[in-house]
Amino acid sequence: MKYTIAVIPGDGIGPEVTTQAKKALEAVAEVYDHIFLYKEAQMGACAIDATGDPLPKETIEICRNADAILFGAIGDAKYDNDPTLRIRPEQGLLNLRKELDLFCNVRPIKAYPKLLKNSPLKKEIISGTDIAIFRELTGGIYFGRKEISKDGKQAYDACAYSVDEITRVTHLAFEAAQIRKKKVTLVDKANVLETSRLWRKTVVEIAKQYKDVELEVLLIDNAAMQIVLNPKQFDVILTENLLGDVMSDVACAIGGSIGVLASSSIGEKNAMFEPIHGSYHQAKGKDIANPLASILSAAMMLEHLGLLDEADAIHRAVEKSLDLGLTTKDLKGVGQYSASTSKVGDFIADYIQNQEDSSMNFKNIYMGQSTII
Ligand code: IPM
Ligand code: MN
Repeated sequence: MKYTIAVIPGDGIGPEVTTQAKKALEAVAEVYDHIFLYKEAQMGACAIDATGDPLPKETIEICRNADAILFGAIGDAKYDNDPTLRIRPEQGLLNLRKELDLFCNVRPIKAYPKLLKNSPLKKEIISGTDIAIFRELTGGIYFGRKEISKDGKQAYDACAYSVDEITRVTHLAFEAAQIRKKKVTLVDKANVLETSRLWRKTVVEIAKQYKDVELEVLLIDNAAMQIVLNPKQFDVILTENLLGDVMSDVACAIGGSIGVLASSSIGEKNAMFEPIHGSYHQAKGKDIANPLASILSAAMMLEHLGLLDEADAIHRAVEKSLDLGLTTKDLKGVGQYSASTSKVGDFIADYIQNQEDSSMNFKNIYMGQSTII
């Protein structure tokens, strides 16, 4: 089959990790006889530098017409350090989410057995954790009215949600729970926020349609504590935009490194796949960033396209790289080798194509006997 993939490398380490994801996709294309047609587009600080706009019109069109979107990262130090700038890279990502109505952000949080010791949390606490965070992505305080008073001494961000916005993401969360461990935890701040009370009322009502799924409600402060104290109690976490942003970064401690966590942002017509990590500009161009989150995002993209065997091939290759310890140095202690971003990408692609033979190639390389990868 032929698929058009919009590729937005973005800022910082975005381009180098996305390149590795494309290597994995090319290996998949070869083995499973597909054609991936990549259409590159700009977004973020690089787009501001090139066009003055963090989300050029052309990027929106390329994305709208693609079968799926693969995105790297966004953000640059020069904007982080200057809060007075009105045009910011992140507006590119936020506007694209809104333009394409990518309302449902799914962030799987898993404790890979090989990475248990990389987490600051105790092995017995996190081992076996398998959570899917469903974060509403196009509403709430991110998109409410923003204002700063004329004298610059007061600022406002409004948080608004409608029943419709809550309903559509809630159904996706419950449908996911039905084929997982049949539990949804709604995370909110219903003891304080009106929007949270609307979430609760709406979700409790919808839950009645899913008799096989248990609904639990937790306040965000408690949930943030519970996810580090006892992450295994969670299956699907459903929450609004800002709380989901924070919960998913906290949950990254379970995965051992934010460098291995992927995500998808789903709408009615379009879908985008990206690492949870940011642009990590300190590492830009150094070939040290972990490409696994981007590679696993490509796997999520294949799943979304219905290419399940193909996605599995990527997962097996990632697991093999962890087994062999062929990882970037953020995953210290996983293996005796510390590989560059591009070496990890080469290995993953090679393993997808050559399976067990790749382990041989890999060992030879480290013994200096081969230049196959
Ligand atoms: C994320 C990011 C974004 C967000 C930023 C870059 C705007 O942190 O995808 O989690 O807050 O949604
Ligand atoms: Mn975030």
